Amino acid sequence: MTWLITGGAGYIGGHVVRAMTEAGERAVVYDDLSSGIAERLPEDVPLVVGSTLDADLVARALADHAITGVVHLAAKKQVGESVEQPLRYYRENVEGLRVLLEAVADAGVPSFVFSSSAAVYGMPDVDLVTEDTPCLPMSPYGETKLAGEWLTRAVGRATGLRTACLRYFNVAGAAAPELADTGVFNLVPMVFEKLTAGAAPRIFGADYPTPDGTCVRDYIHVTDLAEAHVAAARRLAGAAPGTDLTLNIGRGEGVSVREMVDLIADVTGYDIPAEVTERRAGDPARVVAAADRMTAELGWSAKRDVREMVESAWAGWVRLHPEARTQTRP
Ligand SMILES: NC(=O)c1ccc[n+]([C@@H]2O[C@H](COP(=O)([O-])OP(=O)(O)OC[C@H]3O[C@@H](n4cnc5c(N)ncnc54)[C@H](O)[C@@H]3O)[C@@H](O)[C@H]2O)c1
Repeated sequence: MTWLITGGAGYIGGHVVRAMTEAGERAVVYDDLSSGIAERLPEDVPLVVGSTLDADLVARALADHAITGVVHLAAKKQVGESVEQPLRYYRENVEGLRVLLEAVADAGVPSFVFSSSAAVYGMPDVDLVTEDTPCLPMSPYGETKLAGEWLTRAVGRATGLRTACLRYFNVAGAAAPELADTGVFNLVPMVFEKLTAGAAPRIFGADYPTPDGTCVRDYIHVTDLAEAHVAAARRLAGAAPGTDLTLNIGRGEGVSVREMVDLIADVTGYDIPAEVTERRAGDPARVVAAADRMTAELGWSAKRDVREMVESAWAGWVRLHPEARTQTRP
């Protein structure tokens, strides 16, 4: 099959492209390069530069490359920014998806994988978040992901499109330093940034009802996440028309912020004690995936542990910030 991978020049998309091509699928990337990096892509993977909002270009890409499935990762992803710029987030994430789905339906492309997020759940008050846990997103970003799921499933019901909405939990790590995340929006790069500036990493609240008082999250290695896309793509390709899957993609294992900060200190060699500050508004105490539906539907589960995530993310960080290396433990 030939898969159009929107957002394929991004952090996760670059890994999905690699996993798909290594698994023997053909990949074509569609990306406006707003945050993507063309150099992340293997030379033999075609890149169409454009926005998912450009209906003509999307339709041409589907036809020119005889696309038989779409993996849609292209989106804006910063929660805080989405609060300040809701119109932009709804335009890029919901209208961009609507335009793409219209072209997919017109072209009769049979399979569609959508990047969703654990952000659709908001502040779940459960030990393990199942796919049936109520979705109450806390930000415009989370709302756009939930609306995207609704739209994707509605088109599936109306047209027979086979769909998979993958709700990623906390993504970390890199398959290779040049594929690493260049943004500083998640815990791991935020701690790297503080440490390499010689500053104390911050822990927002140590009075949560968790074993060590800090927030607990479910981290997944981006290489595992990419492999989940291959499994989902193949599952859809062999499924009946109209099949719709909504799956958590996580490890089902909670790691606290304190544990992560200690692990980062161990991996990087930086020994700067963390500073505990006030809680941040909107941070749930614990968000850990129930991953059994994913395993049952895809016959797949994540293999890489948190240390591999931190070590590979650090290798990517040092590539971008060479000064970091000189300060590490010999
Ligand atoms: N990184 C995470 O922790 C995380 C967690 C849950 C879900 N997600 C979702 O995964 C997807 C990929 O995230 P990422 O971390 O790789 O982000 P990223 O910013 O690295 O990648 C997004 C890619 O999409 C492209 N893009 C953005 N808007 C576009 C548009 N309108 N048309 C064409 N291309 C466009 C960008 O240039 C970039 O290459 C997003 O949908 C995001 O919401 C990410």
